[in-house]
Amino acid sequence: MLVRLRHYPPLLALLAQLGATLLIGALIYLNAQLGPWRPTWLAAGLAQGLLAMLLAGALGLTRGWRLVNLLFVPALLLAGGANLPSWLFLLCFALLLLLNWNSFGERVPLYLTATRTAGQLVELLKAQPANFRFIDLGCGPAGLLLHLAKAYPQAQFVGVETAPLSFALAWLRALGQGNCQIHYRSLWRTDLASFSVVYCFLSPAPMPALWRKACEEMPVGTWLISNSFAVPGHTPDQQIALGDWRASSLLLWRMPCNATAAAGAPSTNIIG
Ligand SMILES: C[S@@+](CC[C@H](N)C(=O)[O-])C[C@H]1O[C@@H](n2cnc3c(N)ncnc32)[C@H](O)[C@@H]1O
Repeated sequence: MLVRLRHYPPLLALLAQLGATLLIGALIYLNAQLGPWRPTWLAAGLAQGLLAMLLAGALGLTRGWRLVNLLFVPALLLAGGANLPSWLFLLCFALLLLLNWNSFGERVPLYLTATRTAGQLVELLKAQPANFRFIDLGCGPAGLLLHLAKAYPQAQFVGVETAPLSFALAWLRALGQGNCQIHYRSLWRTDLASFSVVYCFLSPAPMPALWRKACEEMPVGTWLISNSFAVPGHTPDQQIALGDWRASSLLLWRMPCNATAAAGAPSTNIIG
């Protein structure tokens, strides 16, 4: 069941929260049987947060989700005791909405490529010519793009994003990185013809349509890389296990579809 949950980080985070709450609750109960000492609510909340963060790590959640797990219950306790103004809750809701704008329409929530996966992409890209062009479709706050842009200063990196807060963060973070541009643009309105490598980490929902788009626009010899999500009916040319407990992988297709555009396309084998 855990393997099936791998595409739903919010559910895994909830599992970590429930596990930590049950464990801390059991400890508080046992402690109450043994003596008069009682932890404060805040101390219990902090212990719960710490445990939830460790469980989230064990479940393979990213740093962002671990942080959410660490802070969730302590923040609730603090907010409950501090008589915070109601607009603050509205603000938090608005921020979450601005980060997850696409969860509803596109069925693509925000979760981030793991640092280890970014390292594997750096290795894969070694076989590209120095001035290759890479695009991240739905770049989030651009952590992956900036990691790659620093590793390959002569290459060009582009990110497109439509969640307003993710876009703003990505755009600001990329300001100092000359070879990385961020656009507020839907991936569906982005022409893929000029890229040597197209990367996406989306969800199962858009993959069939993305495959059709890639086949129409990507020149022969270029690479489509999907983190975790397959294209039904199209076996990847290469599959690289990411070595996490979720058994996820990078799926690589060498584009064979647009024969007319083959002339100008880079033809380097990404694996070398
Ligand atoms: C799972 S996150 C991946 C973030 C980043 N690529 C990474 O790997 O760390 C997917 C991102 O795609 C964005 N997204 C979803 N649909 C999109 C669309 N039609 N156009 C642009 N971005 C989109 C979401 O807002 C989200 O930030």
